[in-house]
Amino acid sequence: MSLQPQAGAPIIAFRDVEVALGSDRIYERLNLEVHPGEFVCILGPSGCGKSTSLRVIGGLLEIAGGEVTINGRPPQQSWPDIAFVFQSPRLVPWRTALGNVLLGTDLRFGGARDGRETRAKELLTLVGLANDTHKYPSMLSGGERQRVAIARALAVDPQIVLMDEPFSALDPNTRRRLRAEMERIWQTTGKTVVFVTHDVEEALQLADRIVVLSNKPTRVVDVISLKLPRPRSLAHADLVQERSRLMAMLGASETTTETGGAS
Ligand SMILES: Nc1ncnc2c1ncn2[C@@H]1O[C@H](COP(=O)(O)OP(=O)(O)OP(=O)(O)O)[C@@H](O)[C@H]1O
Ligand SMILES: [Mg+2]
Repeated sequence: MSLQPQAGAPIIAFRDVEVALGSDRIYERLNLEVHPGEFVCILGPSGCGKSTSLRVIGGLLEIAGGEVTINGRPPQQSWPDIAFVFQSPRLVPWRTALGNVLLGTDLRFGGARDGRETRAKELLTLVGLANDTHKYPSMLSGGERQRVAIARALAVDPQIVLMDEPFSALDPNTRRRLRAEMERIWQTTGKTVVFVTHDVEEALQLADRIVVLSNKPTRVVDVISLKLPRPRSLAHADLVQERSRLMAMLGASETTTETGGAS
């Protein structure tokens, strides 16, 4: 466990953040930092406020106290730096894969497309869909649709990509494949990624740091720095040990993940 602050200014900082929704106090004094270029996974029990943290970063939810900064500014001023990928791809059915990737830039920048179409095709190539740019969402598999959503997020060239359980609706094989692809995309693009997941193995595979949240009122119960080179094998002794510790911390059974073991 590493709670030491890292060198350099954080790109995202929560300081004593309070969030209340209705009569529910979600965060009392939540503190966390994300550094430029980091891949941070947020793990925690259902309902603890993982999606809430992304909504706060994205400026979609007002905080009741404390401070949140993105590059030193309030989230409401930082939307150009941020893009979302959700659990479901949220594609427009009447636009092709290429049209969906362009949708984000059309909405954000409007006007002439200039080189955006070329860039959108490059991003579809990056996510493995070079030959599918003309297909409509109904002609794509679930994994392919989620790849389009990732390309759409990258198309606005954000500094930060917020991902809320982006692979959890996919079958285990597709999920593992997309996990590996996401790692490659992150390495290629150098984006800062905040990735919410329920899946301990997904977090161990992908994260530079795992932030573990408690039940409400939510606080950070652990921050795990993972220095192992990538791609990682979950059979590595360090990961086997961290996996058991995390599963115990989250109160999860050793058989609840898709592999049922440290394979
Ligand atoms: N609009 C709202 N009004 C009242 N409570 C809300 C509202 N939106 C979310 N909540 C509550 O806030 C808490 C945190 O919700 P959030 O969606 O962030 O949880 P989560 O950790 O992402 O859960 P899951 O793992 O199930 O996706 C939950 O208890 C939820 O019921
Ligand atoms: Mg959620």
